[in-house]
Amino acid sequence: MVRWCAVYLCVVLLPCSALAKTSVTEGTFSGDSDDSKKIVGSEGTSNFGSFDGTAGPSERNGTGRLLVVPMDGSHWTIMKAVAEELGRRGHTVLVLMPEVSMRLDSGKHYMSKTFPVPYTQDLFNQLTKNSQQLIGSTAGLTERISGKLKQMRGIMNLIISTSESLLFNHELLEFLRKQEFDAVLTDPVMPSGAILAFNLSLPAIYMLRGLPCGMDAIATACPDPPSYIPRFFTQHTDRMCFTERVLNVVVYMLEPVMCKLLYWWSDDVASRFLQRSISMTEILNTAAMWLLRYDFTLEFPKPLAPNTVLIAGLNCAVTKPLDPEVLEFVEGSEHGIVVFTLGSLVPAMPREKAAIFFQAFSRIPQRVLWRYMGEVPHEVPGNVKLMKWLPQNDLLVIKRG
Ligand SMILES: *[C@@H]1O[C@H](CO)[C@@H](O)[C@H](O)[C@H]1NC(C)=O
Ligand SMILES: *[C@@H]1O[C@H](CO)[C@@H](O)[C@H](O)[C@H]1NC(C)=O
Repeated sequence: MVRWCAVYLCVVLLPCSALAKTSVTEGTFSGDSDDSKKIVGSEGTSNFGSFDGTAGPSERNGTGRLLVVPMDGSHWTIMKAVAEELGRRGHTVLVLMPEVSMRLDSGKHYMSKTFPVPYTQDLFNQLTKNSQQLIGSTAGLTERISGKLKQMRGIMNLIISTSESLLFNHELLEFLRKQEFDAVLTDPVMPSGAILAFNLSLPAIYMLRGLPCGMDAIATACPDPPSYIPRFFTQHTDRMCFTERVLNVVVYMLEPVMCKLLYWWSDDVASRFLQRSISMTEILNTAAMWLLRYDFTLEFPKPLAPNTVLIAGLNCAVTKPLDPEVLEFVEGSEHGIVVFTLGSLVPAMPREKAAIFFQAFSRIPQRVLWRYMGEVPHEVPGNVKLMKWLPQNDLLVIKRG
């Protein structure tokens, strides 16, 4: 009963902001601009090389103009798949990316525009190296904590400086204003795209796994009762006993503090950029649509705002045949395979730590595919194959996996 009330409340309360936002943008199509500047894709020319059309969506045969402000790292995989597919279907897609990045790259069906940032590729290398050192570190607790904090500060500074380089680049902003985009697709975990969409008065489509500290529920004004929604880090399920529930409520009450700690800087950047005091939740509240990369087959029940669509598994559709060498390795395994990776931020680890993994793998009957870029010991067990990049999607399709 409570649950249904909550869902109902969501339905009643939410569409207003989404609708209001949509009507604002309809107005912007009529503005004319004869900007004939060409966007240069990273690969030179592209088949829709010019962005100078001023026609509305109907005159463009129902195709739209989408601005994509992606987040770097693994989040880019699915964003790229969507950008490519929309481009392939005839929409005009422009991906905005910093000059220096970990994984952002150009594609076949979308254009990209880069903006300058005040750091170099070395910084990324430094950050990844630090995270590897932390994993295998034998240092004392205080050193490890201060190391972690230092690393987090480094990542935070990097994110802030990327946001500022985008938002305070007047030339770029001027250019984007003239493009008459229909919508912005972005990952609000990296808030500059959301802030940009807000400033350009464009409908913002968010694609994310979720925001920490319940900020998405606050921003969508969706009920988020701690009575049956387990909070982050508590490891509770939706069925809690009394003490678990008390702890859940305490964490729930602490969440606003956590939000402030995590997102103070984006409130600050947004306020400076928009020249008035504004919070990130106010900006997120104006989203037209939330595309969430999960599914209730793996989640506990909770109310969702009506402008939310669950899109789990979207990236799994993009499969390519495996490299023959990898395919042979996989097919040749009698007992199946183990795919081992620590994510894009940890491509390697200290030799002693790696040795433990190598030893463990040598004792199991399965063959192991490991995404590892660190130092390789003299004898890699026969059942282990090291790769710089693991085609996880493509591996999952193989029946033996
Ligand atoms: C739009 O569609 C019409 C009819 O289907 C076609 O003749 C025209 O070339 C299309 N225009 C563009 C820009 O694709
Ligand atoms: C967008 O930002 C500019 C300054 O950066 C500001 O003058 C303008 O009012 C903002 N527009 C909106 C809709 O917030």
